[in-house]
Amino acid sequence: MMNKMAEGYQQNSRWQRNGGKRFVQNEVAPYLSNDILDLGCGTGELSAYLAELVGPKGRVLAVDPDKERIRVAQESHKEIENLTFAEGSTSSFPGLGLETYNVIFSNFVLHWVKNIEEKEKAFQNMFRSLKPTGKIFLRYGDRLPITFDRVFRELNPENMDRLLNLFEHETRPVIEKLCEANGFRILKSFDEKHDDLVFENGEGLRLFFWATTNGVFDPQLVTEERLEKFCARYSSGENGRIKLHFEENDTFSVLVAEKPAD
Ligand SMILES: C[S@@+](CC[C@H](N)C(=O)[O-])C[C@H]1O[C@@H](n2cnc3c(N)ncnc32)[C@H](O)[C@@H]1O
Repeated sequence: MMNKMAEGYQQNSRWQRNGGKRFVQNEVAPYLSNDILDLGCGTGELSAYLAELVGPKGRVLAVDPDKERIRVAQESHKEIENLTFAEGSTSSFPGLGLETYNVIFSNFVLHWVKNIEEKEKAFQNMFRSLKPTGKIFLRYGDRLPITFDRVFRELNPENMDRLLNLFEHETRPVIEKLCEANGFRILKSFDEKHDDLVFENGEGLRLFFWATTNGVFDPQLVTEERLEKFCARYSSGENGRIKLHFEENDTFSVLVAEKPAD
């Protein structure tokens, strides 16, 4: 079951990956050189993209605390020579404290890092592990999107409390404060609207929310009746597809910051 979850995640996480790719192209690519850390890499698709962009002269190390995701990542990207996967997290990763990295990249991870103390430690650890003038590129949730709240409430009301407890969102001003208090100079910090989320069918929706919530969202509770009622109210889409629109203030946050030169 756990194996299936990592694989389910890999197949169903295209949504955040597409946005992640755009972020890499628009913001990260100009700064890619030598040693890159992907912190919270999941099944490694964006790590592979970073490795491709940086080319053979650069190296990407990608870590995630989820053993199964790391196993799937290693298996899926084993032909990429300048990419290495390891178990790790914001509090423990190779090169911690050694001023090793030119770039630390982290896509949709910070809201999974438990409590403000752990988040503070994450900024400290990133700072201590970057070379002077090295940069961090983060995308993170600063609130639960209304769309997710609706999915949880309507399709899995039995698990609502557990679902809400999964994430530890902090607002953008709080994150900016943590970032600056730990020595970084903020280069960019802004909100962005989520892309619409499109599923081929109800099964795709069930799998996506099951995999992205580490199994807390129970697909079996999503009866056809619940799904039909939900789709009639909140989704559009043709040929069986389910398209979830995000509201104007359903945003996430982007942060780019630099460790000043010595
Ligand atoms: C939404 S996924 C994003 C994965 C990947 N960055 C991507 O965009 O495809 C969040 C990932 O953060 C990982 N994670 C959770 N807590 C973490 C921590 N303290 N440090 C690093 N990664 C963490 C999870 O295991 C999960 O794979």
